[in-house]
Amino acid sequence: HRHLLGIEPLHPAEITTILDLAETYVEQNRSGDKHSDALRGLTQINMFFENSTRTQASFELAGKRLGADVMNMSMQTSSVKKGETLIDTALTLNAMHPDLLVVRHPHSGAVDLLAQKVNCAVLNAGDGRHEHPTQALLDALTIRRKKGRLHRLTIAICGDIAHSRVARSNLILLGKMENRVRLIGPPTLMPTGVAEFGCEVYDDMKKGLEGADVVMMLRLQKERMDGGFIPSEREYYHRYGLDAEKLAFAKDDAIVMHPGPMNRGVEIDGTIADDINRSVIQEQVEMGVAVRMAAMDLLARNLRAARAA
Ligand code: CP
Repeated sequence: HRHLLGIEPLHPAEITTILDLAETYVEQNRSGDKHSDALRGLTQINMFFENSTRTQASFELAGKRLGADVMNMSMQTSSVKKGETLIDTALTLNAMHPDLLVVRHPHSGAVDLLAQKVNCAVLNAGDGRHEHPTQALLDALTIRRKKGRLHRLTIAICGDIAHSRVARSNLILLGKMENRVRLIGPPTLMPTGVAEFGCEVYDDMKKGLEGADVVMMLRLQKERMDGGFIPSEREYYHRYGLDAEKLAFAKDDAIVMHPGPMNRGVEIDGTIADDINRSVIQEQVEMGVAVRMAAMDLLARNLRAARAA
């Protein structure tokens, strides 16, 4: 592939290749020398049109650890504020010969559109409610390491499914790898047509969590609710917040995941989020750097091969 725009176009074997390469970068990142040179000589530009802590920091570290020249565009102080369009901004940066463009944008499909206009590799760092492929890949690596496999697991994705690109990318990836995926959330936050992905849908946490190996919690994406129905946080926590009572319905060794940023006391009890015997939230962050190193390494190989041809 030339770009990483979503999980949708990836074959299961390609997902496994990314995760296997990421494993080597987990070791590198834990070692005394975090540097290698897969991206040496290449320029990586990060363009985040939406706030980020984890994704932006990990893409920056990933590029630096692989030897790229990394530039973070500050979109808040860029000429976008003077009315320059996304495409004109991208063409301007493209003229500076970047090799890797990492883009986050609030509009679904914006990153795909941008990828058609530039002649470098584009990585989707989250577009609207569409896809967040590197998040699903880092979640997959975390699950595989914790559960010893990435197939035939029962995985419950809980909360605001409708507005979540994390849920969408995970649903696609976990389905491709032949897991049993359950979506749990209030009907108002459940998208229509999810049944075609072959998943089960629940509006009751206890029923949906019964026997789950993995419990993945999601944040209420209020910024995407467009003046529509926003549940009261108190009521939401009572019915859908992960607490010890609800978690007891999952398997005894079920792991608890959250992509972050989390709202303690809204979708998850802080005690559970901090419980190192159940919560793998910090491991997810660690895997994020390794997975982004692997994704950029593989795209850079394709880029170099295409240029040499
Ligand atoms: N999980 C995730 O995408 O977090 P950030 O918004 O902080 O990047």
